Amino acid sequence: MTPDSVDPRRVPYCVLPGGRIPRIGMGTFGSDLYGPEEVSAAVAGALRFGYRLFDCASVYGNEDRIGQVFDEAFSAGVVKREEIFVISKVWNDMHGRGDVLLSLARSLKDLRLDYVDAYLVHWPFPNYHAPGCDGDARNPDSVPFSADSYLEVWRQMEKIRDMGLARYIGMSNMTVSKMKAVLPHCRIMPALVEMELHPSFQQTGLFRYCVERNIQPIGYSPLGSPNRPGRDRSPGDVVDTELPEVEAAARAHGIHPALVCLKWAVQRGQIPIPFSVHEKNYRANLCAIIEDPLTDAEMLAIAKADKNCRLIKGQVFLWEGAGGWEDLWD
Ligand SMILES: NC(=O)c1ccc[n+]([C@@H]2O[C@H](COP(=O)([O-])OP(=O)(O)OC[C@H]3O[C@@H](n4cnc5c(N)ncnc54)[C@H](OP(=O)(O)O)[C@@H]3O)[C@@H](O)[C@H]2O)c1
Repeated sequence: MTPDSVDPRRVPYCVLPGGRIPRIGMGTFGSDLYGPEEVSAAVAGALRFGYRLFDCASVYGNEDRIGQVFDEAFSAGVVKREEIFVISKVWNDMHGRGDVLLSLARSLKDLRLDYVDAYLVHWPFPNYHAPGCDGDARNPDSVPFSADSYLEVWRQMEKIRDMGLARYIGMSNMTVSKMKAVLPHCRIMPALVEMELHPSFQQTGLFRYCVERNIQPIGYSPLGSPNRPGRDRSPGDVVDTELPEVEAAARAHGIHPALVCLKWAVQRGQIPIPFSVHEKNYRANLCAIIEDPLTDAEMLAIAKADKNCRLIKGQVFLWEGAGGWEDLWD
């Protein structure tokens, strides 16, 4: 810890079955813009500053560098293993029989951990694209969602949980109808579901569906992902930090609109995982959620600002014969 860092005991936690998770984390996807060195340096700085939750994934291509940072932090006494909550995810090309365990084994080796705190199914399809591809890229082997295929992946997730290699298992990029199709057949329920959540895309139906079942929502792209890759940009996308309701709250609190998005997220009940390689920003993000909350009126105004504007449309995962990106989301 540095003298100006945040005491992690001041950061609130959400309760999970048999455990807990910090109410804010740091994202680690460099958006094809920041390489492993920059992202892992930010993770090192964030650990020292007081972050205890890190959202990783094999496809982000930086778990080995982040693992070195964890290892150094444990050796230097910055933090103990059990004090951090590490999420990783199985990528779409590792859905085959036996592949989930292989993928997790690789992530554990890279992250230099004996277990992850949570392991998620990154996308509910085995469809994948080349790293850094553009928005028109399609893989001819792509297929639509199949509950049976998903459940085969989930059986493997349950096994790694049984083996103690992941304390929790979870899902990502789901919809209510996909969850309705698979949840009745899960032996172990997901503890966490990661989904895109920001003021202009609140996914109220999916959010409530999860909360009512004690499944903790994690909100990705909580600031509206201003630096997302070109393949995830479309004409008409809303800029969250320019929403009048967000700007008004920012003015009232004398803060950047990005910090309003994070206060709103935590007060609503999801766990935001903002990304930044800039110390000033990731420090401000952690501080924002422990001080000066939004008023009920500001929360209500932002609740009404929803524009149903999905930014990460996932069109690169479409299969032959599919219509538009909406087909991925039922
Ligand atoms: N499960 C999934 O499929 C999925 C999909 C997408 C993302 N994710 C996860 O969610 C994380 C976050 O999502 P994201 O990176 O797409 O979007 P985001 O967190 O909404 O936005 C990140 C961008 O916001 C800027 N920023 C951060 N803090 C700021 C501040 N205080 N003031 C002004 N600007 C600020 C950063 O710029 P600077 O770096 O210049 O500060 C960064 O480029 C990812 O890293 C990843 O871990 C998961």
